[in-house]
Amino acid sequence: MKTYNWAILGCGSIAKKFTLELKDLPNANLYATASRNIDTATNFASEFNFEKAYGSYLEMVNDPKVDIVYIATPHSFHKEHTLLCLNFKKAVLCEKAFAINTKEVEQMILASKEYNTFLMEAFWVIFRPKFNKVLELINTRKLGKLKFVKSDFMFNQPFDSNSRLYNLDLGGGSLLDIGIYPVFTALMLLGIPDKIETIPHFSPSGSEESISMLFGYKNGSNAVLNSSVTSNYKNDVELIFENGTIKYERFSNDSIELIQNETLEKITFNPGPNMGYQFEAIHVMECLDNNLIESPVLTNTVSLNLIRTLDKIRKKANITYPKHD
Ligand SMILES: NC(=O)c1ccc[n+]([C@@H]2O[C@H](COP(=O)([O-])OP(=O)(O)OC[C@H]3O[C@@H](n4cnc5c(N)ncnc54)[C@H](OP(=O)(O)O)[C@@H]3O)[C@@H](O)[C@H]2O)c1
Repeated sequence: MKTYNWAILGCGSIAKKFTLELKDLPNANLYATASRNIDTATNFASEFNFEKAYGSYLEMVNDPKVDIVYIATPHSFHKEHTLLCLNFKKAVLCEKAFAINTKEVEQMILASKEYNTFLMEAFWVIFRPKFNKVLELINTRKLGKLKFVKSDFMFNQPFDSNSRLYNLDLGGGSLLDIGIYPVFTALMLLGIPDKIETIPHFSPSGSEESISMLFGYKNGSNAVLNSSVTSNYKNDVELIFENGTIKYERFSNDSIELIQNETLEKITFNPGPNMGYQFEAIHVMECLDNNLIESPVLTNTVSLNLIRTLDKIRKKANITYPKHD
C-alpha cells in the first residue's frame, strides 16, 4: 500500500475535525501543517504529531515531500490556495464551497489539467455510507418518481462582524457555507433545476444570513430548501416519492426512515464512530493510486453544476461579494 504525505493548509476549525479522522488511515502520513502564523502551525502539528510545521503556505508547498494538500481556508481563498498548490504539483483536496463563483472554479479545474495534478472539492457527504444507502434505497425500492426534496441546514450563530460567517470579504453567509448542502442534495437527486425562486434575508454586515429556495423541474418535481445561520433546527432531509417517503437526518450516522404502504421501516446501519471525513480522504488516495487527476465520483462536472447553481441562486437573491464578483 502506497503511503501519502498529507499537509494541512490553514489550521482552523474544520482542519482539526478532518485531521482527527485522517490520522487513523494507514496510508495517510500526517506530514506537514501550514499556517500564516508559525505558532499556530507548530501547535497544530504537535497536537497531531505532524512531522513539519510551516509559518507560511508558500514554504509548505516548496517542500518536495508533500504529496496531498487539504485546503481548509475560507472560501474566498480557495482559488488562490488551490492554484498555489497545483503550481507546485501537489494534489489538492479543497474545502467547500469550492470557490466563490463559477469563474474561479473554472480556473481551478483548468489549472488541474494544465499541471496534470489531482483536484477535488471536499464535498465529503457524497462518500458517506448514509448517502450511498439512500441512493441504494431509491434504486431498489419501488417508490415511484421522486416528487419533492425537502432539505434544510440551519444553526444559530449570533451576529459577529468578525466571524467568517458574516464577513463578505471571506465569502460569509449561510448559502456557501451550509445552504450548499441542501442545494447539493437536490442536484444529486433531481438534477439541475429549470426554475429557481429565492427569498433571502441579510445581516447588518450585508451578508446573507438565511435563505429559502424553491427549485422547479419541468417533469413535475420540486425542491424546497432552507438555510440559515440565525435559527436552530434539525438538518433533516425528506424525499417524497409517488409511493413512499425517505427521511433522514443529514449528519447523524445511524438510521434512515422509509415509509411505504403506510408502514414505517427504520433502516439502521453501523458506519463507524466518525463523522465520515475519512471517506473522502480514502477516495483521494485511491484516485492517486490510479494516477487520476479527477475523481470519478465527485467529478469536475458535479462541482461545476453545484457552483453554477449557487451562482444562479445568488443572482436571483442579489447576494454579492464585492471583492470577488
Ligand atoms: N466539510 C465540512 O464539514 C466543513 C465544516 C466547516 C467548514 N468547512 C469549510 O472549510 C473552510 C474553513 O472553515 P472553518 O470553519 O474551518 O474556518 P476557520 O476556523 O475560520 O479557519 C479558516 C482558516 O483559514 C486560514 N486563513 C487564511 N487566511 C485567512 C483570513 N484572511 N481570515 C481567516 N482565516 C484565514 C486560517 O488558518 P491559519 O491562521 O492557520 O493560516 C484559519 O484558521 C470554509 O470554506 C468552510 O466552508 C467545511
